[in-house]
Amino acid sequence: MKAVVQSEYGSAEVLKLQVIDRPEIGEHDVLVRVGAASVNPGDWAIMNGLPYIARPAPLYGLRKPRHGVRGTDVAGVVDAVGTGVTRFRPGDEVFGWCRGSFAEYAAASEERLALKPANLSFKQAAAVPMAGTVALQALRDHGNVQPGQKVLVNGASGGIGTFAVQIAKSLGAEVTGVCSSASLELVSSIGADHVIDYTKEDFTRNGERYDFILDNAAKLPLSSLRRALTPQGMLVPNGGGFEHRWVASGGRLIGAMVSFRFVSQSLGRFLVAQKHEDLTTLAEMIEAGEIRPVIDRTYSLADTPQAVEHMERGHPRGKVVIAVDQIAAGGETGTTHD
Ligand SMILES: NC(=O)c1ccc[n+]([C@@H]2O[C@H](COP(=O)([O-])OP(=O)(O)OC[C@H]3O[C@@H](n4cnc5c(N)ncnc54)[C@H](OP(=O)(O)O)[C@@H]3O)[C@@H](O)[C@H]2O)c1
Repeated sequence: MKAVVQSEYGSAEVLKLQVIDRPEIGEHDVLVRVGAASVNPGDWAIMNGLPYIARPAPLYGLRKPRHGVRGTDVAGVVDAVGTGVTRFRPGDEVFGWCRGSFAEYAAASEERLALKPANLSFKQAAAVPMAGTVALQALRDHGNVQPGQKVLVNGASGGIGTFAVQIAKSLGAEVTGVCSSASLELVSSIGADHVIDYTKEDFTRNGERYDFILDNAAKLPLSSLRRALTPQGMLVPNGGGFEHRWVASGGRLIGAMVSFRFVSQSLGRFLVAQKHEDLTTLAEMIEAGEIRPVIDRTYSLADTPQAVEHMERGHPRGKVVIAVDQIAAGGETGTTHD
């Protein structure tokens, strides 16, 4: 099969289109013929081997990644199933989390897949798993967001942000989206009640207070973010840069944990959990028309390095998608702007 493979850590130029064996599947695994994949900041991090402190972890490797194919988000067709698989059979259209979706075939645990929403293409479905799940878990599980509450999403135009705005609206919140000038219209169009252009206004200094802030950007000091919270409000410090190559945003998170111990506001720090139940919830919300994935650009498998570089520049409007299979992806594999 064709796959985009890396044999060393580095920037996107380490990604090479090669022909390799299809992945083997275990007893509870599914082999997915990949229709489309999408790119996440985590793919960029593992590609670069950052932060260094993560290299002993199973997903990484000390000198090069243990698994050479990047890509977690997948949508495609079940090609084969392990002997213990009960939830899927060949031919099912699925989406979810896998090991190496920048390839024509990828292996996934059946526990990390769900049936693809009927009203989405493979490209749209591939945009959902990581970003949709992070937004859902942040707002529903950690924030316990209730109707009428005031929610602010900083970084509202990116992969997670575009889902977060819509999910917060579906939970009945009054939603403020913060983004750059170029994305104001997009963030309004997905339902934000208020939009703030961070290049013109600092939302932490305008006197407004929010019950819940999801910060996907990590550009503002924690003390400023706290100032924009109500006395019982919650901050989820979701984003983090890699300016510090050893620990990335680890220092900021430790600082947040310490400072929030002394205030009435709370901190909703979390690492996303890959659960098929949440994929099913997202599929139901999509089929009910409550939320929809926003796709910025679509690239071909051969152009995966450019897709990763586009996301790396830091201003995607929604998700960056890779259309892998010509038939499953509806015949489009060139670079397009959706
Ligand atoms: N907790 C977890 O388990 C988990 C899981 C996955 C990802 N994450 C993290 O979540 C973060 C967001 O991920 P993503 O997939 O949404 O990234 P993304 O698609 O690259 O979006 C990031 C967005 O940040 C916005 N942005 C850049 N500078 C900004 C600023 N100064 N103020 C406000 N917004 C700014 C950009 O919008 P504009 O173009 O409008 O500037 C961009 O669209 C990443 O740091 C990622 O590592 C956490």
